[in-house]
Amino acid sequence: MNQLRVRLLLWVLVPMTVVLALMAGLSLANARSTALLIQDRRLLASAEMMAGQVSWQEDRLSAEIPPAALQMFASRERDRVYFQIRAHPGELLAGWPDLPDRVAPDNGVPLYSDIQYRGNNLRMVTLIRRVYRDGRTITVSVSVAESRNAFYHLIDTLWRPILLQESVLLALALALMIVGLTLELRPLLLLRRDLQAREADDLMPLETVQLQRELQPIVETINQYATRLTAQVNIQKRFVADAAHQLRTPVALMSTQLDYAAHLAVDSELKEALRAVRACARRLKDLINQLLSLSHAEAARGTNLPRQNVNLLEVTQQILVDLSVLADDKGIDLGLSSTSTDVSVMSYPTLVHALLFNLVDNAVRYTPRGGNVTVHAGLAGTSAILQVDDTGPGIPDALKPHVFERFSRGNVSDNNGFGLGLAIVSEAARACGGVVELSSRPDGVGLSAVVRLPTGET
Ligand SMILES: Nc1ncnc2c1ncn2[C@@H]1O[C@H](COP(=O)(O)OP(=O)(O)O)[C@@H](O)[C@H]1O
Ligand SMILES: [Mg+2]
Repeated sequence: MNQLRVRLLLWVLVPMTVVLALMAGLSLANARSTALLIQDRRLLASAEMMAGQVSWQEDRLSAEIPPAALQMFASRERDRVYFQIRAHPGELLAGWPDLPDRVAPDNGVPLYSDIQYRGNNLRMVTLIRRVYRDGRTITVSVSVAESRNAFYHLIDTLWRPILLQESVLLALALALMIVGLTLELRPLLLLRRDLQAREADDLMPLETVQLQRELQPIVETINQYATRLTAQVNIQKRFVADAAHQLRTPVALMSTQLDYAAHLAVDSELKEALRAVRACARRLKDLINQLLSLSHAEAARGTNLPRQNVNLLEVTQQILVDLSVLADDKGIDLGLSSTSTDVSVMSYPTLVHALLFNLVDNAVRYTPRGGNVTVHAGLAGTSAILQVDDTGPGIPDALKPHVFERFSRGNVSDNNGFGLGLAIVSEAARACGGVVELSSRPDGVGLSAVVRLPTGET
């Protein structure tokens, strides 16, 4: 009931129905008076015909009933007709003696009345005629009454088409209203669909071009609100980036001092303590770098910075070299296979690097000793595909959507990560216009992370 469309429809249909009902009532009254007029004319004509036939026979008045005076009532409705001709005072010349008496005015104007006779509702006309003879005037009263079958039938015939026309009119108006409202509300529905389809953090302004003028201020207000919200979100994002940036220098200084102190320390307990603090400082540095990387990927989305040519094979090789120490430590076989000699995309080099680095880093970290990590690179249509396969434990399906969340660490409990790696991967992929998918390897061993990036060549 609270639907705008239903309410608007009701506001039009209810008054329209009331008006049409009034019109139907008026046309019923019109049909009734027309039918009555026709019946009264017929009764009068018949009564006058009978009155015309009252004459003197020798010295008595006599009334003959002309057949035409009764034939005019012949109809399919088979109405009953009664008449009475009286000479005043009180002498019955013809007809039904007990037909109710009505006194018509003396001036010859006919009197019409509704009467009950022999269980029937009748319409009756009574008129007075004067008959002269030898200076004598005798008043003759003629009454003709008819039942109302033809009368009701006529009302029905006159009124039914009007009722039908009005119903058709109402149905047509309803149909047109529904079509009109659907068309008029379309921009609003499109707006709703646009809003529903948006990502939760998409605060781009809504289109106002197609909207009716009344709706434009609402959308403009929403847009202004989104702009304020964007400004607020940007302040927060910048705060994280700025804070990480500010932390970098003291942490770097601290690391240098700790390295220096480690050389100076002679006491083995102190050396041990310094080693632990150095590990913490390294972890802190990693966290700061991850936070910066995430802020950078986040800030890149939605901006139209110029893209550069990125050779994915070169980037991968560099990452494999950087991670080879870790891989060698664990006896992991780290490799690259490519179906093409040149796999390049037009994109953002730092983001592509961060994306791929975090995927290979995870693969090496979570694969047990002696496993394999292979990066496959190739082209498919307008996309470049990077697939990082490992022989580690994989990620259970139920956890897959959550591992992309910030600070979410799946089911590992080591102290080596922060749960930001895959968040960076997903932000970087979005900023580059690509997608990431995690799937289990067909043989059931390990994880397969697939990234599709648009090559950017048209
Ligand atoms: N190759 C992989 N094999 C198994 N589990 C993985 C792999 N990559 C990621 N994960 C799981 O996803 C979680 C989130 O990864 P990530 O965001 O990189 O955070 P971090 O590595 O710092 O824990 C990890 O904690 C781990 O449980
Ligand atoms: Mg990680």
